[in-house]
Amino acid sequence: MLKDIKGDIMMRCISCGAEYPDDEIIYTCNQCGSILEVVCQPDVSKDVFRCRKSTMWKYKEFMPVDPSRIVSLDEGGTPFCKCDKLGKELGVELYVKVEGSNPTGSFKDRGMSVGITKAIELGVDTVGCASTGNTSASLAAYAARAGLKCVVLLPAGKVALGKLAQAMFHGAQVLSVRGNFDQALEAITQLALQGQLYLLNSINPYRLEGQKSIGFEIVDDLGWKSPDRIILPVGNAGNISAIWKGITEFQKAGFIDDLPRMTGIQAEGAAPIARAVREKHDDIVPVENPETVATAIRIGAPVSAKKAIRAIYESDGLAETVTDEEILSAQKLLAQTEGIGVEPASAASIAGLKKLVDSGKIDKGEQIVCVVTGHVLKDPNIAINACEEPVEVDADIDALLRVIKGN
Ligand code: F0G
Repeated sequence: MLKDIKGDIMMRCISCGAEYPDDEIIYTCNQCGSILEVVCQPDVSKDVFRCRKSTMWKYKEFMPVDPSRIVSLDEGGTPFCKCDKLGKELGVELYVKVEGSNPTGSFKDRGMSVGITKAIELGVDTVGCASTGNTSASLAAYAARAGLKCVVLLPAGKVALGKLAQAMFHGAQVLSVRGNFDQALEAITQLALQGQLYLLNSINPYRLEGQKSIGFEIVDDLGWKSPDRIILPVGNAGNISAIWKGITEFQKAGFIDDLPRMTGIQAEGAAPIARAVREKHDDIVPVENPETVATAIRIGAPVSAKKAIRAIYESDGLAETVTDEEILSAQKLLAQTEGIGVEPASAASIAGLKKLVDSGKIDKGEQIVCVVTGHVLKDPNIAINACEEPVEVDADIDALLRVIKGN
């Protein structure tokens, strides 16, 4: 029945094309070791989406899981804000897709809704991930909702406070690993390959099936049209690949004609993909000791690098790097000109847009969508440190006025 609606669902190696059934627990290709993607191309009209609740499950025919077993917190359907002031300042038509409005405050919820639904279908009892923070916060919440045991590995001392609080508070077993994210991911992958847990990092292609709904919503929000360009931060590189997959699926389905240029932004100290694209390579050279204030994207060996680079080349897109200083100033700019509060990694998209406009690589007047991936409260220390301390004052009108008027 499911297959009748959705076509043949399977996993396929992105390099050699080897195919795997959708009920097999497998993360990389047995034949060549490359990464996998899910194939799901339903034969439906976009009229079926009409009048449905505005969550990512509005597009459920495109989600490769059993619709009767969905584990959801009503993720997706996030704000799509036209930013006229900032757009004018930069000389472009700017929209911001606010993923911090998801249930746990980041886009990861879209992937976890599908990933945990898949875990339930497969009958596993334990799920796990390594994370720079948001993946763990999201997995912990969705595992709790589904009644699954959850183990998360975090790089010790490098996870923003809000994310750590969420992972712990939703009841996951949180382990602080001595090492960076790449080392934590390597370790949890070994546990998954031993069959100890079902891995829900984005090497699991079902995660990306949920995240592709960002692409669906952008073209739906624009009245079934692609913007000229989609700009987003890139860390482990799943999200840029997922959004591109979603948009190309909608094009194949005949819902849209044109495609956007996918533009990935990395922090200067953690930019293996931007470097590979600059040198016109198809794969990365890992960065040994990645470093950036944007801890969410502090990643040196992104697992979905091949998919991300393919998305950038296929879409005639770009990759760019930004400094920590540019990230923090873009974060403040977005918060104070448009009222949109995002965490540092998310602001990389705005910082990248500014840099690409300044260097002439983005034309004036382009229609741009910046995806801002996580909420400002994920990393409260960064926000507080960027501001002056509040002035302490007596609860007295004269005293208050003296401070407010500055005399
Ligand atoms: N923005 C935020 C807020 C993130 O948390 C992440 C990734 C990214 C951007 C990059 O997305 O990895 O798909 O390229 N965070 C992961 C985590 C790695 O563990 O939470 P990506």
